[in-house]
Amino acid sequence: MPGIRITGWGTALPDKVVTNHDLAQTVSTTDEWITDRTGIKERRVGGTTTGLAVEAGQKAMDVAGLAPADIQMVILATTSPDRQVPASASAVQRELGLSCAAFDLNAACSGFVYALVADGFVKSGLDKILVIGSETLSRITDWTDRNTCILFADGAGAAVVEASADDTGDLLGFSMSSDGTLEYALFAEVGGNLQMEGRAVFKNAVLVMETAARDAMTSAGVTADDIDVVIPHQANIRIIDASCRRLGIPTDKALTVLHYTGNTSAASIPLAMVDGIEHGRIKKGDLVLMVGFGAGMTSAASVMRWSADT
Ligand code: ACO
Repeated sequence: MPGIRITGWGTALPDKVVTNHDLAQTVSTTDEWITDRTGIKERRVGGTTTGLAVEAGQKAMDVAGLAPADIQMVILATTSPDRQVPASASAVQRELGLSCAAFDLNAACSGFVYALVADGFVKSGLDKILVIGSETLSRITDWTDRNTCILFADGAGAAVVEASADDTGDLLGFSMSSDGTLEYALFAEVGGNLQMEGRAVFKNAVLVMETAARDAMTSAGVTADDIDVVIPHQANIRIIDASCRRLGIPTDKALTVLHYTGNTSAASIPLAMVDGIEHGRIKKGDLVLMVGFGAGMTSAASVMRWSADT
């Protein structure tokens, strides 16, 4: 049975930039505090989850050289859909002119890695799947709450996932998990804003990132020494550094964009992935570890041998 390859990629970020200095005008915080505690300097805000997903998805199709008729499924990872019903994936499908299955996947910030279940759809016969992480968290953020408004932002990242010609594909190891007992640490009621116990999220994030990454590496039959590039969820530079230390992976192998994107939940890993491709940090042949965690508390990791020309 075939595996999967990533053959196209693209991103979308809103034009509007909100800096830490801007936030210091509206809530009791400082650029120094936000930078020291999170690594975030600025974030992008605006647009719709569908609009950002369409822009990122179209770019990914262009890179892969695919026409709308080629795509057989859209998986939209999002925790901030534009409507309660229907799935925003259906609007993305319509706007991109696709004729195919489409559904939303809500695994919070682990959503993009969860969406690599595309591998299973490929094994059951599909060839070309568009996987997108897109969020407009600014719409479910209380901009008067300094605990959360310094973190969350908007953006999208997309990948075209195609069936590989061989039986292996690029996805060598995979892990997904959820611990619903930690739901209290980060949630938003329907129609409400994100509420978070930051310290609980921080502590558990470091633990589940390590566990997910180790599980994926074990199923791939590789060790931390083999990893060339880490693409972590972009929530907090201290969580990324602590997780890399626990895994024994040098922190300079981790791609980061959070300083200019903030935490874009399901979009954060593909945003960092595309940034890494564009800056020569991901090269053909690299062993790439993606690892995410998020509300739920979900976690997921994948180990891929990158086979596309970058
Ligand atoms: N500016 C200034 N001071 C602040 C701010 C702020 N924005 N926010 C909190 N403080 C204060 C607190 O009130 C507290 O003051 P006190 O000591 O007088 O009580 C002090 O700073 C320390 O607060 P802590 O909450 O202990 O700060 P911490 O070092 O834990 O940093 C942070 C807070 C950045 C939120 C951190 O806990 C964190 O990053 N947690 C993980 C959050 C996360 O990753 N969320 C996303 C999950 S992914 C998803 O699914 C969307």
